[in-house]
Amino acid sequence: MGKKTIIQDLIRDKRTQLPTLSVVTSNIIKLADDDNASVHALAEFILQDQAIANKVLKLANSAYYGVVKTIASIPHAITIIGFNDVTSLAIGMGVFSAFDLKKVNTLLKMEELWLHSLGCATAAKELATLLKIDDREQIFLNGLLHDMGKIIFALHFPDDFAIALEESKKNDCPLHYKEMEIFSENHATIAGQLMKHWNFPESLILPVQFHHSSAKCPQDFTIKAMIIEVADFLCHKTAIGSSGNPGVADVKIAVKNLGLLKDDLKRIIDFLERQRPKMEEYLQLLA
Ligand SMILES: [Fe+2]
Ligand SMILES: [Fe+2]
Repeated sequence: MGKKTIIQDLIRDKRTQLPTLSVVTSNIIKLADDDNASVHALAEFILQDQAIANKVLKLANSAYYGVVKTIASIPHAITIIGFNDVTSLAIGMGVFSAFDLKKVNTLLKMEELWLHSLGCATAAKELATLLKIDDREQIFLNGLLHDMGKIIFALHFPDDFAIALEESKKNDCPLHYKEMEIFSENHATIAGQLMKHWNFPESLILPVQFHHSSAKCPQDFTIKAMIIEVADFLCHKTAIGSSGNPGVADVKIAVKNLGLLKDDLKRIIDFLERQRPKMEEYLQLLA
């Protein structure tokens, strides 16, 4: 089929409606890239989006944070949840809500994909801590967004994507191989294209774009791409959520290049198991 520039084709084709990112989400993305960003500035943006504001308040008042007194203001909620966590979640919610998710539910179970994404984000952040790598929050966000390309396929190419899912299941083969055969792209590369179109910074795009081909990733971001690759693999191993494909590619090379030992992987798997109820509770609150 050879859809080499899928996103460009979608932009050019007036019949298709490429998802647009809300202004609020775009502004929060810029804020995430700004070292001098303040709680006040973040609160101002969040207040412009009622849905995100409500979820942030709901989360801050939940048993999860165990605060007794009612939290009624966004700045207060940000200090309870944490600036970086609110930023990541607001961007994650903004990105996922840009898509018409009702249409994808027959192909992808969104709740499962959310849990898989949160699991990958959690594992990636923990791996970054273990490897003493900075930008843990950005790596968390890379994990949260890593599989969003599957939503693009499900929305714009449902028939071909159904075949890719089906064949991947039937042959127990990693989904991205089948996607390459059918689309000449995979969900990682297509997500990279859309993120570029949305003006995301490179730091958020590249680890997502190369999470299934870290060897090809520009050098500055190779380690982060490998972290997402390994985190994704560990989520599949622990069955935290589901991303639609049972087959998962071997990550031996990434594990070796990151200098991870068997014990390290086991530690992250145990950590994910312990975090599972928390992650499930978290998603309930955001629903
Ligand atoms: Fe993936
Ligand atoms: Fe994944």
